[in-house]
Amino acid sequence: MSEHAKLVIPSDPAKLVDVDAFAEHWIGDMPFTDDQRDDIAISLSEAVNNAIQHGNANDARKRVTVVLRRFEDGLRIEVTDEGNGFDPDAVADPTDPENLLSESGRGLLIIRHLMDEVHVRPADGGTRVELIKRYHD
Ligand SMILES: Nc1ncnc2c1ncn2[C@@H]1O[C@H](COP(=O)(O)OP(=O)(O)O)[C@@H](O)[C@H]1O
Ligand SMILES: [Mg+2]
Repeated sequence: MSEHAKLVIPSDPAKLVDVDAFAEHWIGDMPFTDDQRDDIAISLSEAVNNAIQHGNANDARKRVTVVLRRFEDGLRIEVTDEGNGFDPDAVADPTDPENLLSESGRGLLIIRHLMDEVHVRPADGGTRVELIKRYHD
């Protein structure tokens, strides 16, 4: 099995199931626990959802590229959209009392909690969110 795999989808939330199946299959033989697999699936789905909704503004002509890479300590996921990027530190804090009743704004918080590292970087014509999950803390 190769050390990385790539899937490109149009910005259509119906494609989230394909992303999920693609990742589940590809990481199948990596030595993650079931809990870690759940963490990865949830985080990937939140990141792709954000790429579709916020990055690509639900424009089906714009694509989201998902790359999975294995490295010695675990898995690196790259989710790249064709949007203008954002500053994750400037995003409203969903745990702020004033935002507690808001239904939105939890995706990034969840991702940060479940993954070991989260980075947002400018990419060629878009934004790349990198998620890292290690086998051991
Ligand atoms: N790929 C992205 N491109 C641009 N902005 C993003 C992206 N991902 C997240 N954001 C910004 O970060 C905010 C918080 O994301 P998130 O915690 O998932 O909450 P929600 O998706 O419910 O708004 C979004 O509302 C958006 O402003
Ligand atoms: Mg979100």
